[in-house]
Amino acid sequence: MGRGREMALMSARPAALFLVVCVAARAALAIQDGLLPNGNFEQAPNKSQLNGSRVMGRYAIPHWEISGFVEYIGSGQKQGDMLLPVPEGAYAVRLGNDASIQQRLPLKRGTHYSITFCAARTCAQTEQLNITVAPESDVLPIQTVYTSSGWDCYSWAFKARHSTETFIVHNPGVEEDPACGPLIDLFAIKTLPPPQRLKDNILRNGDFEQGPYMFPNTPWGVLLPPMDEDDYSPVSPWMIMSSTKSIKYVDSAHYKVPHGAHAVELVSGLETALVQDVPTVPGRPYRLQFAAGDAGDGCAGSMAVQAYAARGSVRVPYQSRGKGGCTRGALDFTAIANQTRVAFVSMSYNMKTDGTLCGPVLDDVSLVCTRTHRARRLLL
Ligand SMILES: *[C@@H]1O[C@H](CO)[C@@H](O)[C@H](O)[C@H]1NC(C)=O
Ligand SMILES: *[C@@H]1O[C@H](CO)[C@@H](O)[C@H](O)[C@H]1NC(C)=O
Ligand SMILES: *[C@@H]1O[C@H](CO)[C@@H](O)[C@H](O)[C@H]1NC(C)=O
Ligand SMILES: *[C@@H]1O[C@H](CO)[C@@H](O)[C@H](O)[C@H]1NC(C)=O
Repeated sequence: MGRGREMALMSARPAALFLVVCVAARAALAIQDGLLPNGNFEQAPNKSQLNGSRVMGRYAIPHWEISGFVEYIGSGQKQGDMLLPVPEGAYAVRLGNDASIQQRLPLKRGTHYSITFCAARTCAQTEQLNITVAPESDVLPIQTVYTSSGWDCYSWAFKARHSTETFIVHNPGVEEDPACGPLIDLFAIKTLPPPQRLKDNILRNGDFEQGPYMFPNTPWGVLLPPMDEDDYSPVSPWMIMSSTKSIKYVDSAHYKVPHGAHAVELVSGLETALVQDVPTVPGRPYRLQFAAGDAGDGCAGSMAVQAYAARGSVRVPYQSRGKGGCTRGALDFTAIANQTRVAFVSMSYNMKTDGTLCGPVLDDVSLVCTRTHRARRLLL
């Protein structure tokens, strides 16, 4: 009997150990979707590590490492006459000239992620942030022309090359006042699964259901900044082609969305194209279909979305009252190559009454080959 119990204990112990190791491994494995550790800066530095608003110690802000002139900004804090706005909670951080802030992220190697964060311009007209997860790095323009609050949220995607990566946000600015620079707050991460090809659609992510993390309590949407052609976008395989202007990703919780839970708002007129490359068979006929409308965000006026594919194009006008609604557009074209670039551009520049830029929404995009049925019938 004694021996039996001992054996039971012996066999139970490795199992328990195994369980502990598994749980620990899973916890250490990769970060969860959502806010980064202290991603909203609500965990404050110790008073002893602050001189006024300037953060003195490299590790003073819990979970972050800083370098250069970094300020810890409380809501209600002023600079001269200007109130420095904080988008959420009581605190944000400001990056002065050449200052940076970074955090180590445990990731799953080979997986794509997108980072969402919010930023506001303060003193200078053109502020920028350099976002890096080596070897990828992009300089995002911080323009604050899309919201009246002064804050915009941005997204940026990357592929994890290692199981731990350093995420760096750097202000490359050189202003006269070294304290001048963008305010930042609310850093979140989201895993981007490989975009699936659905039945009856050659395009992927045509409904824009896959995209960056969106904060439930920030009603401004998330900007998709312009990118290099070989970068991975948060709405991949869609690409945002522009020199400096963005597209806005919107959700049905805060906007009128034609289909599903997400769509894009083409907020930069002719200066930005949303494109996707799709495999096609030269000589075959295709039909591209989409919904164009307004996001119900007070963006009123004449709008038009133009779609391009192969040698074809179609312009879909839409009269917006800013209250939501949409119309459908279609483009029939014949493929002339192995691969066809489908592109969407807003042909109108629209502005809300508060002076912020806005535009038509695009959603529910599909591409089908229109000959397959007839060809099959002929074969039978
Ligand atoms: C705090 O900043 C002020 C002004 O920038 C400076 O004169 C002072 O020496 C600083 N104090 C400490 C403890 O670093
Ligand atoms: C803040 O001070 C406490 C107590 O002195 C210390 O335990 C803690 O590590 C400090 N935190 C930081 C971020 O330096
Ligand atoms: C952006 O930051 C990365 C990493 O710190 C650096 O290698 C790169 O040169 C920077 N780019 C610009 C334009 O400042
Ligand atoms: C089409 O694809 C084949 C193989 O993938 C390639 O060899 C060929 O060059 C392509 N043709 C065109 C016109 O792109």
